[in-house]
Amino acid sequence: MAEAAPLIDQRWGSIDEVLDGPLEDIVPNNTWCAIILLWLTLPLTLLLGIIGGSCACFFRLLGWTGCCSAYKSVINGQPCRYSFCWFSYLFSMLVALLKSGGVRLRLFMWEKKSFGGKEYFWHGEGVWCTSWARCDEIMRSMQDRKKAFGSLTAPVPDVFPPGIAIFLPCGGNDSEWWVIRNLIHTYFLEMALQYNARVADLDANLQQNWPNVKLVDMDTPAVVQQMVSKCIFYVVLGKWVTDDEAAILTGWRTNASLFVFPRATQRMIFNLGVKKIKKLRKDTIGIVEKYGLQEIFLQMNDSMPPQYRRVPAVKLCDEIMYVFGFAGIGGTSACTETVSAFLQLKLPKECAKETIDFSKYDSAAAMVECYKANPVAYIKESCRVNPPVTSATSVLKEDTRIEMLGEEVTLSKGMYRQYTLSLANRDPEVFEEPGLFNPQRPNLSKALTWNGAFGMTNEEDYPRICPGRNLSVSVCKAIIDRALVSSE
Ligand code: HEM
Repeated sequence: MAEAAPLIDQRWGSIDEVLDGPLEDIVPNNTWCAIILLWLTLPLTLLLGIIGGSCACFFRLLGWTGCCSAYKSVINGQPCRYSFCWFSYLFSMLVALLKSGGVRLRLFMWEKKSFGGKEYFWHGEGVWCTSWARCDEIMRSMQDRKKAFGSLTAPVPDVFPPGIAIFLPCGGNDSEWWVIRNLIHTYFLEMALQYNARVADLDANLQQNWPNVKLVDMDTPAVVQQMVSKCIFYVVLGKWVTDDEAAILTGWRTNASLFVFPRATQRMIFNLGVKKIKKLRKDTIGIVEKYGLQEIFLQMNDSMPPQYRRVPAVKLCDEIMYVFGFAGIGGTSACTETVSAFLQLKLPKECAKETIDFSKYDSAAAMVECYKANPVAYIKESCRVNPPVTSATSVLKEDTRIEMLGEEVTLSKGMYRQYTLSLANRDPEVFEEPGLFNPQRPNLSKALTWNGAFGMTNEEDYPRICPGRNLSVSVCKAIIDRALVSSE
């Protein structure tokens, strides 16, 4: 036994080495030289950014139509000569987001309108599609993927781990993506009876930890986020973490805005975001190590075909905990914050309030009654109108012709193509009165919130449907049910 510990340490490795690995995908536009140029020209880039973020015509110029636009920078390999315009464009996106009150859905609606209100608009380094039909078609296909997030090349390995599931292209039974997805199910989301038993324990654990929590207490997002963090960690790894550990894990939700910044923006803010995210990843691994849970990840790593095994194994743990944190804790917190607010006829912090119509329910009591009649439908409809995950980044598998601003253009294979779930979920061709909050709508399961039509009979047609969809609904329901008991 005395010899086992060093052996584990050797196979497990050091998270610092993983986080401090060599940076990938550095292009002329995000080198330190380009950042210095930015600082020297800051007043002008900022001014252009402010105009671009406020005026649709100038936004199109910076993004697509101008001779040095973001689109042209991308198709030319992002060379240095485009840096000035690229930074002006980045500022214009930031200004547009601020103008939208930090609400992504509102930003996407403005961008779509700025590009003529048709199928496509340009954002970041890629083209975004917006209809339910097109998003659904992509989700049902075997997608190509790259290390990209929000149609921007992701900063790896310090902000995102390069081998994370969402960056892996779809493939057959022997592909890396399929192997990882399968193992996530086997080790964390299906474990025979253990998974169900842990979900069944949630209410007792919540009651013990928060004996008197009421719906109104959940107006404080930190309360919801701590509850969600404890529940998710418990179901996947079997430990009810302490309050301090839960406070660390809530960082997966509270730092959400930092994940979306590309390398150039991270450098622009002196890597303050990078440092926070590295600390969050390291502290999350620290919790796994404190409870001695390394063996689960070591076993999982050993069960992978040799070509996919991570060296050291802590790399795999970091990748898995990243998805559990980012999608699991972040997504489920957003979902539960929305549901608890809606039940009180309130709106959560990130919400395009002008797009939500509560007219079917004239009181909080009516809302609660509707929730009790069908909690799962209520949760799904809340997430349809205010999706926790607003879009995902796929990659064009072949040269593709699209119509942009009235002209036909051919986009090259390999370009990022985002599918905008939040807009697809409001497509009037599919959802009658899309802004109306109505958990009884007959085609509710057509909402693409969980990366596929969750609950439809053809669910298995969506190869990348979120593997945590049932868990997220169970956790949200357990928390809301507990708060409703104390509120009565
Ligand atoms: C309301 C909560 C959640 C929502 C709305 C949500 C939604 C999504 C979406 C849209 C994707 C696709 C992302 C992409 O491909 O870029 C995704 C992927 C994923 N989610 Fe969730 N998720 C939630 C909760 C969870 C939970 C609780 C877990 C597990 C603990 C989880 C695990 C995953 C994993 C592993 C993937 C990657 C699947 C793949 O790439 O094949 N999610 N989720």
